[in-house]
Amino acid sequence: NFSVYEPCVVMLFFYTFRFLLKTMGRLDGKVIVLSAAAQGIGKASAIAFAKEGAQVTATDINGEKLKELDGIPGIKTKVVDVTKKDQVGALAKDFDYVDVLFNVAGFVHHGSILECEESDWDFTMNVNVRSMYLMIKAFLPKMLARKSGNIINMASVASSIKGVVNRCVYSTSKAAIIGLTKSVAADFLEQGIRCNCICPGTVDTPSLRQRIQDRPDPEQAFKDFMARQKSGRLCTAEEVAHLSVYLASDESAYVTGTEAIIDGGWRL
Ligand SMILES: NC(=O)c1ccc[n+]([C@@H]2O[C@H](COP(=O)([O-])OP(=O)(O)OC[C@H]3O[C@@H](n4cnc5c(N)ncnc54)[C@H](O)[C@@H]3O)[C@@H](O)[C@H]2O)c1
Repeated sequence: NFSVYEPCVVMLFFYTFRFLLKTMGRLDGKVIVLSAAAQGIGKASAIAFAKEGAQVTATDINGEKLKELDGIPGIKTKVVDVTKKDQVGALAKDFDYVDVLFNVAGFVHHGSILECEESDWDFTMNVNVRSMYLMIKAFLPKMLARKSGNIINMASVASSIKGVVNRCVYSTSKAAIIGLTKSVAADFLEQGIRCNCICPGTVDTPSLRQRIQDRPDPEQAFKDFMARQKSGRLCTAEEVAHLSVYLASDESAYVTGTEAIIDGGWRL
């Protein structure tokens, strides 16, 4: 017997399904830990992850700035210095599992090899590379236990991709991160682990602005930065966050061991 209510019920199901589909996030239920989340690319990524439904633990060495993320649904914050093995270990202990580890922390030293003292070399390699070694060592076993995990490392176009003036130790460290990324991806591919890195060009972040201010002639330094942008503008932290969301999501399930370049064509 055909009832007049049946089409209404079908329509109700259809619209409910469509509504649910629209409100589903691309990272629903994913547990994500990231470093350097107090400002710049890390902060924009933490916010973008949470918007897409992830449970985010946003860490940074700067507790004051990290507070700006307090109260955002889906984000918990924790002060962590990623160069300190005990702090990284304590962070990892907080979790039964994580789906995505995003290593963002990095420092830019200005100068060629001649301006790079041993202390600059050691400091940069420690913050940029050794920190990722510590974080991956701490979190990878939890991923392997579930045969599932996704690691994203922040590298740069200034690396093995492009020689850039006055970025000697920085580029060396970012090239090492590309090597680390490919090595982890190759070693653990068959155990359900993905590992990719992001290679931005010049991104408009507080530290970029600070680096410009720190130059003897900030106005000229800004002009120099702009002159190297073939696209005519700087990248935004939010644009990098879009790429972070893609790499963190299952949309990139077949992507591993890659350098995801976002540089507005700077390297060309
Ligand atoms: N901004 C750019 O133009 C650009 C381009 C390519 C790559 N990157 C890379 O992207 C990453 C983020 O850069 P950004 O410019 O968005 O950030 P930023 O430099 O503005 O912020 C870096 C954050 O890292 C935190 N941090 C520093 N040392 C830390 C430590 N030991 N432990 C934990 N946190 C620490 C700082 O407190 C800060 O909040 C870096 O790895 C950087 O090298 C940036």
